[in-house]
Amino acid sequence: MKSAAPGRVPEILVFDSGIGGLSIARCLHRQVPAARLTHVADNAGFPYGNQPEGTVTGRTVTLVMEQLLERPFDVIVVACNTASTVALPALRAATDIPVVGVVPAIKPASAVSENRRIGLLATPATVRRPYLEDLIHEFAADCLVERVGHPELVTWIEDWARGRPMPEPALSVALQPFREAAVDTLVLGCTHYPLITETLQKLLPEVRFWVDSGEAIARRTLYLLEQAGFDGDALQRFQSSGHRCLFSGPVMEDIDRFLGAVGFSRV
Ligand code: DGL
Repeated sequence: MKSAAPGRVPEILVFDSGIGGLSIARCLHRQVPAARLTHVADNAGFPYGNQPEGTVTGRTVTLVMEQLLERPFDVIVVACNTASTVALPALRAATDIPVVGVVPAIKPASAVSENRRIGLLATPATVRRPYLEDLIHEFAADCLVERVGHPELVTWIEDWARGRPMPEPALSVALQPFREAAVDTLVLGCTHYPLITETLQKLLPEVRFWVDSGEAIARRTLYLLEQAGFDGDALQRFQSSGHRCLFSGPVMEDIDRFLGAVGFSRV
C-alpha cells in the first residue's frame, strides 16, 4: 500500500452529464468528509440518453482528462449510469487514477426484494444497454424486473433544481407499470433520481425498498483512497469544505440556490 503525503486533502472528481452526480457527491461527503469534491456537469452535452455511445465516451474522456491537468485528483467517480455503461474502458485506458463507475443497483435490490418483483427506473439509454441484461441475468435471474426508461425525467429534475415545479401527474402516469407489476423494490438507475426520492416515494407508497448506488460508490471510493495511502480514520474524521461544481456550457444563475443547499458552489 502507498502512503499519501501527510496532511494532503484527498481530491475526488465527480462527473455527470448534469447535476445528478450531486446525489453521489452527497454520499461521498457523508462517508469521506475529509475529501474535497469537484463535480463536473457536462451540461453542454446533456442529456446523454439522446447521444450516440461514441459521443458519450468521447465527451466523458475529454472533460475528465481536462480536469486532470488542473488538479492532482486521487479518484475519479463517473457518477452517471449512462456514461458508465459505455465510457469506463476508454477512461481507464487514458489514466492510471482509479475510476469508479455507477451501474444500476440490481444486485442490492435482488438481495432485499421479498416478492422477487423489482422495478428499475432509468434513462431509455440505460434500459437499452446489454450491460443491464447481463446484470439482471447475473444477480436477479429469479426476479421479474419491470423496466421503465423515462425520456424526460432527467430534464424535469434539472428544471426542478432551478425552481420549476415537478410535473407530478405526468410522472405518476409514467410510474404506473411499477404499480401494475406490484414491485416491492425500486432501483433508481439514474443518478438524478435520488435527488427527488421523496416525490417518488409519495407517488409509489406501496414500494417498500428503495435502492440506489450512492452509498456503495462512496464505500468503494473510501477503500480506494485508503489503498492510495490516506488514513481511513482521518478521511472520516475531518471535514472538508469548498466543494466546487463546474459546467461545460453556459449556466443560469438560478441553479446557485440548489448548489448551495447541497454544499457546492459554482465556479
Ligand atoms: N445522471 C445521468 C445518469 O445517471 C443522466 C443521463 C443523461 O443525461 O441522460 O444516467
